[in-house]
Amino acid sequence: MEELRAKYLQQISEAADEIALEELRVRALGKKGEVTQQMRQLGAMSPDERRSFGPALNKLKDELATALAAKKIALSDAALDARLKGEWLDVTLPSRARRIGTVHPVSQVTEEVTAIFAEMGFTVEQGPRIETEWYNFDALNIPDHHPARAEMDTFYLCRENDDQPLRVLRTHTSPVQIRAMEKIGAPLRIICPGGVYRADYDHTHTPMFHQVEGLALDTDISMANLKWVLIEFTKAFFEVESVDLRFRASHFPFTEPSAEVDIRCSWDDGKLKLGEGDDWLEILGCGMVHPKVIAAGGIDPEVYQGFAFGVGIDRIAMLKYGMPDLRAFFEGDVRWLRHFGFAPLDVPTIHGGLSR
Ligand code: DAH
Repeated sequence: MEELRAKYLQQISEAADEIALEELRVRALGKKGEVTQQMRQLGAMSPDERRSFGPALNKLKDELATALAAKKIALSDAALDARLKGEWLDVTLPSRARRIGTVHPVSQVTEEVTAIFAEMGFTVEQGPRIETEWYNFDALNIPDHHPARAEMDTFYLCRENDDQPLRVLRTHTSPVQIRAMEKIGAPLRIICPGGVYRADYDHTHTPMFHQVEGLALDTDISMANLKWVLIEFTKAFFEVESVDLRFRASHFPFTEPSAEVDIRCSWDDGKLKLGEGDDWLEILGCGMVHPKVIAAGGIDPEVYQGFAFGVGIDRIAMLKYGMPDLRAFFEGDVRWLRHFGFAPLDVPTIHGGLSR
């Protein structure tokens, strides 16, 4: 028994890893292990022998089991230590540059505009970018041969035969006014941000660009409500205490009366400043919705009236964030995107800040 004890304690203390240790356990205490074999022989002994060998063998068995358990803990501690050393990391090093891209200014500004109008009770509606002639023109009181159709430089889609309705890439977000009236009825208060298309290309025009349409209908809406909403929107969007807006009489087939809105600004050394100076910059079109348009949306214009507006999203993005050329918005140049893009996790809210 002394021999067994000395042999196994020695081997346990020298075991190099948990596998070697397990082999030792099987050899000593397993079913056919040496200590187990000794226990089996107890049965063949005389009662006297058994009385002295029995407890001694049990003690040996316990001693080896304890030594095995202790060695097992020591081995796994050592394994953990080795792993920790291998995976060592200096948390005081500066972080690596972010490589997950940025939020495009159009997306950012769309979020900002949506946050502002949501606060005023407007919900967001969407419509298709491939639109029928009816929604894009006729329903908006732009009949055939009306100059507004030609002015918009419309992209028409081919059709297979004359029975198919004529389809266009929508030239503005205004058709969503009709779709929203059909879907929601009155009263309603919606905005629709989205892409629109016109065949035009220079530093302030691209064939695809973005607008946000607004529409509010109720039984007691006046031009004063329109003015208030647009002034509040402009202040919130440009993040200024006050703005100077000019409502200039204009004409759109879908509103009567109609106005275009300019914002006071100055150009000093090619730098644009809002709210000061003697220049005016056009930012949107608006008006009281034409009764024919309300009727086209399936609503009684004798009961309901309201206002509508259309803002160029890319245009106000350029103004707010100082990009000089609209074409760069859609060229996918990563240097431009890194420079003008926004951090992905900064969601604009009225209370948390729009552009911070
Ligand atoms: N749809 C017009 C455009 O694309 C913009 C516009 C003007 C929209 C007046 C409106 C509005 O809703 O009332 O140029």
